[in-house]
Amino acid sequence: MVRVIIAGGTSGMGLATAKLLAQKNFEVIILGRNQEKLNQALAEIGQTAKGKSVDATNLETLKQTFADIGKIDHLVIALSGGKGIGLFRELDLDDLKNGFEGKFFPQLRTAQAALPYITATGSITFITSISSQSKAIGTAGLGAINGAIEIMIPTIAKELKPIRVNAVAPGVVNTTWWDFLPPEKKQETFEKYAETIPLGRIGEPEDIAKMILTFIDNDYITGQIIAVDGGLSLGQ
Ligand SMILES: NC(=O)c1ccc[n+]([C@@H]2O[C@H](COP(=O)([O-])OP(=O)(O)OC[C@H]3O[C@@H](n4cnc5c(N)ncnc54)[C@H](OP(=O)(O)O)[C@@H]3O)[C@@H](O)[C@H]2O)c1
Repeated sequence: MVRVIIAGGTSGMGLATAKLLAQKNFEVIILGRNQEKLNQALAEIGQTAKGKSVDATNLETLKQTFADIGKIDHLVIALSGGKGIGLFRELDLDDLKNGFEGKFFPQLRTAQAALPYITATGSITFITSISSQSKAIGTAGLGAINGAIEIMIPTIAKELKPIRVNAVAPGVVNTTWWDFLPPEKKQETFEKYAETIPLGRIGEPEDIAKMILTFIDNDYITGQIIAVDGGLSLGQ
């Protein structure tokens, strides 16, 4: 069986990817911090999915986790941060730093720790964000975090060849990432975005999962960042 590790596979896009890949008969192993969420996610995925509780801010734990897992065919990195949002005038730089600590470094650390186990025919797929290019008000910090990962993708792909390295850049997607907003505000925000998105709706985690499957499946793509955003990044 082809083995896929999904770091951040216990909710949102990572979980949707785990479900899709399990349906396609991949061997799926999900990683997340929260054991309860992990158990719940495994119950939802069903099939033969496995999971490990690990905090991607901790290199030693990550190294041990990948040593325990052994061979990896494909690695998907869906870890999120969520800090660093706000208008530049008021942007709290410590919060932005936490944003880098919550996403930029954990994503890179996970890739590095997994590398010794990734097969030559394998791939790494990062999840970044169209905030890197959308120029949306209040997202300069988020854009910096995601842009920093994206700028590295083609270089890493050249260095790690023949392992393929790509990124999916989602737009606005209906996941728990938005739970920092009260439910009504979240709904209102989604509706406002839906009005401006050319394809008329916000994204669902499954939209991103399909792109990740393509990156895994198509062994002639590397060094690419593909926006899956309903056209949001095209602007108005
Ligand atoms: N939702 C959006 O609109 C949107 C838009 C653009 C980009 N993105 C990006 O898309 C990616 C997936 O986001 P999502 O919306 O699916 O988020 P999500 O539902 O919050 O899922 C994040 C996943 O990452 C795990 N995680 C976070 N920090 C971790 C850590 N230090 N160690 C281990 N696991 C960790 C979480 O598990 P635990 O809770 O157990 O830690 C969870 O499984 C993120 O990189 C996010 O920045 C999201």
